[in-house]
Amino acid sequence: MKAELEAIQTEVLEQLKQIASSDELETLRITYFGRNGKLTDVMKGMGSLSKEERPIVGKFANDVRATLTEAFEKTKTALESQQQEQQLKDEAIDITLPGRKPAYGKAHPVIQTLERIETIFTRMGFQTVTGPEVETEHYNFDALNTPIDHPARDLHDTFYLTDGQLLRTHTSPVQIRAMESQKPPLRIIVPGKAYRVDYDVSHTPMFHQVEGLLVDKHVTFSELKGVLVSFARQMFGDQTQMRFRPHFFPFTEPSAEADISCTVCQGKGCRSCGHTGWIEILGAGAVDPEVFKAVNYDPEKITGFAFGMGVERIANLQFRIPDIRTFYENDLRFLQQF
Ligand code: PHE
Repeated sequence: MKAELEAIQTEVLEQLKQIASSDELETLRITYFGRNGKLTDVMKGMGSLSKEERPIVGKFANDVRATLTEAFEKTKTALESQQQEQQLKDEAIDITLPGRKPAYGKAHPVIQTLERIETIFTRMGFQTVTGPEVETEHYNFDALNTPIDHPARDLHDTFYLTDGQLLRTHTSPVQIRAMESQKPPLRIIVPGKAYRVDYDVSHTPMFHQVEGLLVDKHVTFSELKGVLVSFARQMFGDQTQMRFRPHFFPFTEPSAEADISCTVCQGKGCRSCGHTGWIEILGAGAVDPEVFKAVNYDPEKITGFAFGMGVERIANLQFRIPDIRTFYENDLRFLQQF
């Protein structure tokens, strides 16, 4: 019987080495320790032993059982830690895998241009001021010396609202608001939206302007030219030429329109500039005394200049967009280029 037990012990220890899973381990356990297991069977035969043999064989059998139980435990623990390791490996996050990048938003190209314009004038000492987009006829027209029969008031150009209100057709009403709330000297720019009933390759019903206003004692037209030429060279490059053409605005006198040398052909003449070599970018002039009177400034004591430019137009020159309306179609394929 001892020999049988010994054989079982070697057998089991040998088989334990081959075990690769808890299922196999359990099967092995049942084969030997189960109700009809091999070890159990041998133990059942104890009864037939003599009185003298029984304690010796009994102790031996217990030793075998203890050895095997311990060996089973060890294998079980080893299997469990192996399994855990495997699980950790399987579930580990692979930090070398490239992640998914979030799609970053950016400023709209028109806003990028607007901010560049603002930066240039800020460096020249202009302060940024804003005003309402829903205006009264008084601020949008009357105070700007634009009489009731002026064509700019035409229903075809202006979005009229109820109660004498309208969507401002330019940023100039903020000139009036700024002068009403501050005493001279004044050096401001007004970035913002303006609205006109207009829709073609170079016009959208909503567009952006940057207004400028400088008021002080002894302000001259040549200072206006100096500021604008400096702006144009910073915006479009040092080689940029600028010319002033006489023009008319109700709120400036004298008035001018300013052109820059074409950014595409450098003034030689091409399709972009209609073969003239020049591109119009802004309107400007010396503040009309009538405007000063409207805000209770004394036109005998102070002078000033004002200018206004269309931001889409400048963005157009910068980015060479053939149709201004594409700015507002919100096609991401277009917008993502900037
Ligand atoms: N407000 C004018 C326009 O929208 C531009 C301008 C502003 C002209 C200031 C002169 C002075 O066309």
